Amino acid sequence: MTEAATMILFGATGDLAKRKLFPALYSLFREHQLPEQFAVVGVGRRSLSQDVFREHVKSSIESFARYPVNNEWRDFISRFFYVSLDIEEVEDYQTLLHTIETVEHDFNIPENRLFYLAIAPELFEPVTFHLQQAGILKQRGWKRVVIEKPFGHDLRSAEVLNEKIGQVFREEEIYRIDHYLGKEMVQNIEVIRFANTLFEPVWNNQYISNVQITSSEVVGVEGRARYYDHAGALRDMVQNHMLQMMTMVAMEPPSRLKPEAIRDEKVKVLRSIRRMHQAEEISRHVVRAQYLAGEIDSQTVKGYVEEEKVNPNSQTETFVAAKFYIDNFRWAGIPFYIRTGKRLAKKATEVIIQFKQLPPLYYNQSGQLEPNVLVIRIYPENGIYLKLNLRQPEDTDKIAPVSMSFTQNSSPGFHSPEAYERLVKDCLEGDSTYFTRWDEVALAWKIVDPIVRTFESGEVPLYTYKAGSWGPQEAEQLVAHDGLKWWPVL
Ligand code: BG6
Repeated sequence: MTEAATMILFGATGDLAKRKLFPALYSLFREHQLPEQFAVVGVGRRSLSQDVFREHVKSSIESFARYPVNNEWRDFISRFFYVSLDIEEVEDYQTLLHTIETVEHDFNIPENRLFYLAIAPELFEPVTFHLQQAGILKQRGWKRVVIEKPFGHDLRSAEVLNEKIGQVFREEEIYRIDHYLGKEMVQNIEVIRFANTLFEPVWNNQYISNVQITSSEVVGVEGRARYYDHAGALRDMVQNHMLQMMTMVAMEPPSRLKPEAIRDEKVKVLRSIRRMHQAEEISRHVVRAQYLAGEIDSQTVKGYVEEEKVNPNSQTETFVAAKFYIDNFRWAGIPFYIRTGKRLAKKATEVIIQFKQLPPLYYNQSGQLEPNVLVIRIYPENGIYLKLNLRQPEDTDKIAPVSMSFTQNSSPGFHSPEAYERLVKDCLEGDSTYFTRWDEVALAWKIVDPIVRTFESGEVPLYTYKAGSWGPQEAEQLVAHDGLKWWPVL
């Protein structure tokens, strides 16, 4: 059950609020999933009147929400307030406190406060510090803070940040967002595994040959060059989303379906991922590359270094493919390949489980039978796809793959809630299952940091690929070297 609360949204005039958070709140409202006693205090640097802010919320919903504005609109928008605040200005926090208290009084909301920090990471610490100094965290109800990524730039900076936030919020009050964990089919991985007799017994190194996780994007840096050029694909996508998906595929069944039990199992996977330290080993297992100009949808697009605000000599990777091993009993010897990049041929996210071949007998005498493959489709479709072998009716000697496919979001009457809707609702319910706990973040940095170091020292080559392709040739070789291929994205 969502609990009565006030959401204090820092970054209320920013992009995330506009594209994701307001639309998510509106969907929850329309589906009667928000508590009756609920309000939003938007906080931003710009000085805006209440009306202008409400207009801004409206236009965001008109552009991005799943539901059109209807006659319940007035009730929804009457819950939105705005405070303009200079992060370092102590007095502004008093104004904020006053607004929160007034809203709580007027809407009869107990002092439950959800702080959503949709702001630049360097502001997390000063904001939490000032919130405490101003007495805004002395509420009588609960307090929670939601933090968007990136959580640090490396292990050291993440530790410093965590320590600072930890002076103000307890670990169970901190909700670190990884929006991939809010995606329907990412959450469904554990259901596919733990609710199907067909899969759980074979979900191990005896029956699985390899796992491939792809998250490809068509977009380039999209005006985020200032951040991205310092981050690169490894920090931007692998440290969080890709490793999180890997843990969902690889974790052991949790002792119960409770946040801490699930996160404990994910942490064990992260601990078991083989760390790579030497440049030579990293060069064999990790391919990094940057996009060149190319063509997407018959449009010519620029190369990465020609993009606005990107350093023309930038060595930042916009693509990473990697092979990881999880050194535990279940997965010993099984490669987990991941690949992610910008300006690729298609936007898609998929987890592919390739099963091992049967012995080369009977129908597989030549060893050429196609392996069984399970595809968990996370984007653009929500669904699963299973490839099996059957005899062809027209040619009884021929065994050929057939597919069984289920797509959730084309079922009648079904619409998949956006990841942010699920995550905002979880915060209001106090369910942190699909948020990353500190030890997960720290371990992910421990895996990624040594790789970043070899990237930055130039010890690992930076390859190139044409925009609109599937990445560099070297990524193909990474799997071909093991006698495998990337399964084409569906
Ligand atoms: C974000 C990255 O975390 O995820 C972006 O910072 C990336 O660079 C985005 O575009 C991809 O998310 P999705 O949900 O569109 O696959």
